[in-house]
Amino acid sequence: MDRSTPAPQELLEIAVDVARDAAATAYRMRAEGVSVAATKSTVTDVVTAADRAVERQVIDALRRLRPGDAVLGEEFGAGEAAGPSGPGAVRWIVDPIDGTVNYLYGLPHSAVSLAAEVDGRVVAGVVRNVSTGDEWTATVGGGAWRAGERLRCSTETDLGQALVATGFGYDPRRRAHQARVVAELITQVRDIRRLGAAAIDLCYAAEGRVDAYYEKGLAAWDLAAGGLVASEAGLRVDGLRGVAAGPDMVVAAPPALFEPLHARLADLDASGGP
Ligand code: IPD
Ligand code: CA
Repeated sequence: MDRSTPAPQELLEIAVDVARDAAATAYRMRAEGVSVAATKSTVTDVVTAADRAVERQVIDALRRLRPGDAVLGEEFGAGEAAGPSGPGAVRWIVDPIDGTVNYLYGLPHSAVSLAAEVDGRVVAGVVRNVSTGDEWTATVGGGAWRAGERLRCSTETDLGQALVATGFGYDPRRRAHQARVVAELITQVRDIRRLGAAAIDLCYAAEGRVDAYYEKGLAAWDLAAGGLVASEAGLRVDGLRGVAAGPDMVVAAPPALFEPLHARLADLDASGGP
């Protein structure tokens, strides 16, 4: 890391301040009433005015606080805020509202997710639930935290007793494949949860509110902050068959559950399909 690169804790403090303001804006806009502003990949993949306003606010704040950094966001991509790259360069990864469909319907599972990456590695991240104010943070090597408590993942060792969270993409063809996988898996685990916000799923796994989580199709902004919270809480966060966690598959499971869950998902070709 370059000497001018801030420590993960310093980046986390910035992330937390920015995410709190962003979540306050999302909360206020929800209270004022939201509607669909546009659709993206499919007719059910919606964006509200709040998604855009919140991401704009985050980009503006980061530009003010850290003018040289790059920013990647769900709504505006790398946009005009892209900064220089090179050793020690910081890139922020933001999902202004993860769980947009929940947000639209007033379900209390949506979050601002903001992570800082240095040299391509996520070093700090915060996930803040817009409705409840629950806030999960992590720095690389510094643990995962919520409300001053250090988080530890579940100690469950039996896949048959595991509560497993997952999610589905927006493309109906992808969903059909995901549904076939989950239809098999649900017979082999305690139960399945589909809460509707990947970042919160990962944070719930970090504190043992679910035992494990998997999903195909996550984007960088879905995974960055929540993935660090999960791994710092002791979960193994990986893809299938030696591939790193990414768009093809994210499996987040306590070490004792990872192998059996991975084996079932690999048998079911969970990373396959459209
Ligand atoms: C979605 C949510 C959902 C997951 C999808 C994501 P969005 O993000 O995290 O839980 O299943 O894969 O795309 O669209 O609400 O930001
Ligand atoms: Ca989003």
